[in-house]
Amino acid sequence: MQLPDENIEYQFSRLLAQPSESWTPLAELQHQHFLLPEQVDEAKQWVMSIRGQVVAERELQNPPPKMRPLQPGFIDLPQKMLDGYKRKQDASELGKLLRRAQQLRDTVDRVVILGIGGSYLPSKAIFGALCHTHHNELPANLRMGKPRIYFEGNDLENDSLQDLFELLENTCVDPDIIGERWGVVVASKSGSTLETAAAYRAVKVEAQKFYGPKNEILKKVIVPITGQNSKLRNLCKADGFPDDDILTVPDDVGGRFTAFTAVGLLPAAVMGLDVRAMLLGAAAMTRRFLEEPFDHNPVLQFATVNHLMTERGKTTRVLTTWSRKLEAVGWWYDHLLSGSLGKYGRGATPITTVGARDLHSRGQQHHDGTRDKLINNLVVKQIKHPPVMLGMSERNEDDLNQFSRKGLPDIREAAIKSTNESYADAARPVADITLPMISEHTIGQLLQMLMLATVVEGRLNGTNPYGQPGVDAYKNNMIRALKAVPNLPKGEVRDQAKGV
Ligand code: PA5
Repeated sequence: MQLPDENIEYQFSRLLAQPSESWTPLAELQHQHFLLPEQVDEAKQWVMSIRGQVVAERELQNPPPKMRPLQPGFIDLPQKMLDGYKRKQDASELGKLLRRAQQLRDTVDRVVILGIGGSYLPSKAIFGALCHTHHNELPANLRMGKPRIYFEGNDLENDSLQDLFELLENTCVDPDIIGERWGVVVASKSGSTLETAAAYRAVKVEAQKFYGPKNEILKKVIVPITGQNSKLRNLCKADGFPDDDILTVPDDVGGRFTAFTAVGLLPAAVMGLDVRAMLLGAAAMTRRFLEEPFDHNPVLQFATVNHLMTERGKTTRVLTTWSRKLEAVGWWYDHLLSGSLGKYGRGATPITTVGARDLHSRGQQHHDGTRDKLINNLVVKQIKHPPVMLGMSERNEDDLNQFSRKGLPDIREAAIKSTNESYADAARPVADITLPMISEHTIGQLLQMLMLATVVEGRLNGTNPYGQPGVDAYKNNMIRALKAVPNLPKGEVRDQAKGV
């Protein structure tokens, strides 16, 4: 497949302290808060050896206990998926996934995606970045066969789930009409996460009410995605799902690194997106990571700069997405960084902001507040639609006629430039991830770049990026705590509508 030049890049020259002939307050501040070019040069050597280590980890079949868990399967997964598809077509993992997605799209007009954390955020990020901003509100002919999408099972919000049931009950009346049918994707690698499992139980009951409890269509309209040995798999098998219809999250892919497993790809295909382009983007990023020298390697650059900055006390890592469409990519990165490197009392704290929106809320703090921040801008070069122009107004009370031949993209460019300038004047460290455009190919690159960089960063600072002992502790405590909540007498429904 021919793809235009869509490489994403990381630029960090603005956070390097500039050599200064004489002492100035700014030079002093830069010296304190920026990186020295020689620090980066020195780090290049050891980050190259860390790359060698990460590469070698891919081959380790039986890692020593201190390296466990080790789940580097995500690194080669995009290319493996593409190769498998080339060889085995429909019988490959990707082929199966595309078939299931097509089946779901052909059968229903609404899809509820259940999952939490790494089993939810990839599809949320992909949906936000690549689907129409008002996708669910579009009439069916404009959606062109792409179902409406809802996300649930990612919190314990009783009232939103009830609201969704109310919506489904009122808009989906006749299961014989495709436009009124709805389906479910339930994703849980462990298959035992309580938030998702509880939501699935309730959603399944709704689906059984709608289609009839024994209706064979249930196996078409429900798509389970889970690990090899999981309660969810057992449940689905007991419900009569054929093995092939249960999609698998490979054991060697960690829960936060699932973007290019069925967890991210099946929903993407249901949304009508080009999952092969996404995989090509991710595979291209892996190749750059493996083959390119530091100066052309955004993974190594991002990992090194962010690691050095954290060491320098910039422990709040702000991802400023200069496109609202990428906000959920930021939430996904928040979870990737927190879950992977927030261990042993260490790890930067991620924050996602949207420019220019959050300049009017967090901007002051970022400019003048605690000097604990590194700001990574996420900038998109090319917009998809024609620019919204200011144009001429007859009376010009707002004095904007002077900009009549400028549009929103020009104003955004000015906002990025002026924000960066003011940060530079205050010696606030800023770097840029640049996306030529938002497309399946660039989103594939971006997610893979951030996953790889997180692993490299973990190896740089001695933190195992895989596993999530803290979250597992809470998960276990929750089961214990729930057991302690008194049961209701049979047949009664707890009335908590007025609060506890
Ligand atoms: O980072 C992680 O591994 C977590 O965010 C998990 O994805 C999350 O806890 C959900 O787990 P599961 O997919 O097993 O339901």
